[in-house]
Amino acid sequence: MQRIVEVDHLSKIYGKKSNPVKVLENISFHVDKGEFVGIMGPSGAGKTTLLNMLSTIDQPTVGSIKIGKQDITRMKERQLSDFRRKELGFIFQDFNLMNSLTVKDNIMLPLALDRTPVNDMEKGLSHVSRILGIDHILNSYPSDISIGQKQRVAAARAVITHPQLILADEPTGSLDSKSATELLHYLSRLNEEEKATIIMVTHDAFTASYCHRILFIKDGAIFSEIVRQGSRKEFFQKVIDMQAAIGGGVSHDVV
Ligand SMILES: Nc1ncnc2c1ncn2[C@@H]1O[C@H](COP(=O)(O)OP(=O)(O)OP(=O)(O)O)[C@@H](O)[C@H]1O
Ligand SMILES: [Mg+2]
Repeated sequence: MQRIVEVDHLSKIYGKKSNPVKVLENISFHVDKGEFVGIMGPSGAGKTTLLNMLSTIDQPTVGSIKIGKQDITRMKERQLSDFRRKELGFIFQDFNLMNSLTVKDNIMLPLALDRTPVNDMEKGLSHVSRILGIDHILNSYPSDISIGQKQRVAAARAVITHPQLILADEPTGSLDSKSATELLHYLSRLNEEEKATIIMVTHDAFTASYCHRILFIKDGAIFSEIVRQGSRKEFFQKVIDMQAAIGGGVSHDVV
């Protein structure tokens, strides 16, 4: 199995030396190609902090993160921006679509920035838009499509470059339940058909039940991990049970 992510003894401390706040402590885990991994945990547990470090947006205080063969904690800013563009795909809660561009141009934008030949762009576009069920709205503008469709357009834009890793922070957070279910259905399809590797932060047990494996973070450390074996419904119940076991409160150790 090809390893895509390797997080090794990672810690993150914010604040001044006189008043440091440990947000993540000694986190280690790995993700293999084609996995769909969820990250859950109470508010303030450090989920977004972890995702920001995987996204190369923030740097760990201690430890290393390898994505593919590269240690992203040792890269310079210029390398990082190239790396982000080529190897990572982002799906966030607010989709960040350009309102002045059509759906088609929004999706192709990352390829256009890379000066991909038009033929290849069109091929990539028809492939991802079919998988995500948005091939009939390619000529529409973001203002004319539903919120669920916008999120699927954002997902198409994130995957059209075939990134090694797709990172999603609460991708269903602003969707109604029908649109959320649709997005999750399509994300699962991307995962299965494209062998896309996805790491998704979510609060929501239903959303998380689409993952294969979930890491639970509490107070900045990995509290537990569950792996889906039976049906999605069974996994959903396991997620709910684990959420109950973790509880909601958080406190941070002052180092
Ligand atoms: N730049 C920063 N400086 C200081 N503290 C920070 C900074 N960013 C985050 N924190 C603290 O780190 C902790 C974890 O924050 P984080 O946003 O990662 O939590 P989260 O698990 O994503 O929470 P939520 O579920 O509410 O999104 C919080 O206590 C937060 O206040
Ligand atoms: Mg968060």
